[in-house]
Amino acid sequence: METAEDGPRGFLPRFSHFATQAIHVGQEPERWSSRAVVPPISLSTTFKQRAPGQHEGFEYSRSGNPTRDCLEKAVAALDGAKYCLAYASGSAATVTIAHLLKAGDAIICMDDVYGGTYRYFRSVASKMGLKVNFVDCTKLDCLEAAITPETKLVWIETPSNPMLKVIDIQSCADVVHKHKDIILVIDNTFMSAYFQRPLSLGADICMYSATKYMNGHSDVVMGLVSVNCDKLYEKLKFLQNAIGAVPSPFDCYLCSRGLKTLHIRMKQHFQNALAVAQYLESDSRVEKVIFPGLPSHPQHELVKRQCSGCPGMITFYIKGKLEQAVAFLKHLKLFALAESLGGYESLAEHPAIMTHAAVSKEDRDALGITDTLIRLSIGLEDKEDLLEDLDQALKAAFPEYTVRN
Ligand SMILES: Cc1ncc(COP(=O)(O)O)c(C=O)c1O
Repeated sequence: METAEDGPRGFLPRFSHFATQAIHVGQEPERWSSRAVVPPISLSTTFKQRAPGQHEGFEYSRSGNPTRDCLEKAVAALDGAKYCLAYASGSAATVTIAHLLKAGDAIICMDDVYGGTYRYFRSVASKMGLKVNFVDCTKLDCLEAAITPETKLVWIETPSNPMLKVIDIQSCADVVHKHKDIILVIDNTFMSAYFQRPLSLGADICMYSATKYMNGHSDVVMGLVSVNCDKLYEKLKFLQNAIGAVPSPFDCYLCSRGLKTLHIRMKQHFQNALAVAQYLESDSRVEKVIFPGLPSHPQHELVKRQCSGCPGMITFYIKGKLEQAVAFLKHLKLFALAESLGGYESLAEHPAIMTHAAVSKEDRDALGITDTLIRLSIGLEDKEDLLEDLDQALKAAFPEYTVRN
């Protein structure tokens, strides 16, 4: 399946120097008088100036912090970007980006996005005078038709959450950039910097909930934003300080540490997820499996062109009704029944009741987020143990069932 140079067969080749950059960029020991190999955690909120306005680039920790700077430099390198900015959460990054707009401006948001992003656009941003239109951006003509003179931001998540629809970033960028002054944002949380580089495909902003794969250890809540445009960077940097939703130095340290193994983790997430997806697809208690790494995924060819692999996210419909879905989830032992994703541990959840409860029932039905839809975040455990856990939970959900594989 995998070749050393190219990664999984048929996928985009891996980005060169990724591991070296993850380990070294922004972490140079020469930056510190102690020449510490692991960057120190700078807890100081303020920095002594030599004369008024004369300093080493840091004045006050909200506007800039040395530990945050290490992380931002590393992520910029991994995204092939000029700049990166860190925020207190993925949601804080979303809100800060929305502040680039003014009342009366309009946003086009992919119809299938993280429930919290939907909630923010629908229930908060709309009250601040921003118009938000939810559109299925897998259909370029729908995206194009939704653009009006007021449109200033297009927000896309790919793969989308939880339906794992894949959006052609380059084609969307071509459509969006026919119009002056529209910013294209790609939420790259699911793919991580290791599998997908939105900026090189024409996006203006690449954002992450770093709470997920980028940190990868389920112990930090953080957001990251990468850009190439100097003007956009200046505006986002200003807003980072003015709004003040910044991460703590300790969280920046943890996320920097998590990044050092991103390349190894993502490869293993992919291998484990592929094994689980193939297992579920062959099981007669499962109605349908959605995993972009499977040839049965409708945009599998696009994924291979656009990405160098797939993360550990699998969505599937269990046969039966809500009762079977709940029984399955309750009987999992190794998979934790919990929201979130992208950590080393495997998680399972019920989007309609958990992560996407904020999405209206009508919209959930239209998207396919039904009572039998289950989302898995496949971790780094031994895949045999994961398969065994899934099998025993399926048996518990269907006690009378004879499996016909
Ligand atoms: C795709 C995606 N984007 C954004 C967010 C929001 O990030 P955070 O929870 O770090 O605020 C999440 C959270 O689950 C997410 O899954």
